[in-house]
Amino acid sequence: MRVFVTGASGWIGSAVTDELLAHGHEVVGLARSGESGAALEAKGATAHRGSLDDLDSLASGAEAADGVIHLAFKHDFSDYAGAGRTEHAAVGRMLDTLKGSDRPFLVASGLATGVTGRPATEDDASPFHGVDAMRGGSENLALEFADRGVRPVALRFSPTVHGMGDHGFTAELTRIAKDAGVAGYIGDGVTRWAAVHRSDAARLVRLALEKAPAGSRVHAVAENGIPSRDIAAAIGDYLGLPTVSVPRADAEAHFGWIGRFFGMDAIASNDRTRELLGWTPTGPTLFEDIAAGAYAVPA
Ligand SMILES: NC(=O)c1ccc[n+]([C@@H]2O[C@H](COP(=O)([O-])OP(=O)(O)OC[C@H]3O[C@@H](n4cnc5c(N)ncnc54)[C@H](OP(=O)(O)O)[C@@H]3O)[C@@H](O)[C@H]2O)c1
Repeated sequence: MRVFVTGASGWIGSAVTDELLAHGHEVVGLARSGESGAALEAKGATAHRGSLDDLDSLASGAEAADGVIHLAFKHDFSDYAGAGRTEHAAVGRMLDTLKGSDRPFLVASGLATGVTGRPATEDDASPFHGVDAMRGGSENLALEFADRGVRPVALRFSPTVHGMGDHGFTAELTRIAKDAGVAGYIGDGVTRWAAVHRSDAARLVRLALEKAPAGSRVHAVAENGIPSRDIAAAIGDYLGLPTVSVPRADAEAHFGWIGRFFGMDAIASNDRTRELLGWTPTGPTLFEDIAAGAYAVPA
């Protein structure tokens, strides 16, 4: 399949690109800079110059492909609402381009929030609708196109997609711990995060591209929910720092933008995803990666 991948140069996207190429697919990756484009070309993909703000570049990329995997996102937490509006417009334009083609459109998303007392499942709908909602409501926007001749699939990633070289949430927590001299968790530390290794996430994306039915939500979840207190302790052990509770009222001052995510309970099952795609996670656990130095902070 000729696949248009946005965010192909990113943490998850570069692993997805490798996975697709290794399984005989052709990758056309959106590249907003010469550097990102060169990295894609070096691995055998084709660079398609454009950006999330250039809707015509997204439309032409989608038009010329047999399927789209949308992983690019503006991770600007100082303007998260703006990032959501960009996301909504970008996803809407690609879906309009694909309408009536029966081609797959996979969109990166997060685990459903607002589920309490049990792990979220693939059947739990995202509560976010519309341009002003979290991530521009892009998951629901995409799934609405299931009856408009598109095969939309929501890729719900765990809050930490970990591995060697990760610069995401766990890396940020490690950096904060090193700067503060303590590995903190919020309150009693009972909120949990699901986790998945990047290699497992990339394989899941390929399988979803190849066989997930229209309207599917798949969970890139290997570990269902790790208490935040234990995540802090693993980081503290690795750095040789004490683990401490940070009062909820001080979370923003201590953790900055990531405080709102670290205090979130994001637990989820993966039973339906495993059954639907025949997917079995095999990569290292989050704690194995932390102990192996995946989050070594430069001195
Ligand atoms: N990593 C996680 O733990 C995690 C967890 C849950 C959900 N997700 C979601 O999964 C998706 C992929 O995440 P990731 O960790 O791979 O992100 P990432 O490493 O930050 O990569 C982001 C990608 O988006 C591209 N991008 C950013 N702004 C752009 C713009 N204005 N125009 C065009 N491209 C742009 C970047 O291109 P450049 O290379 O040019 O910068 C890069 O390829 C995102 O939607 C993310 O929110 C990730």
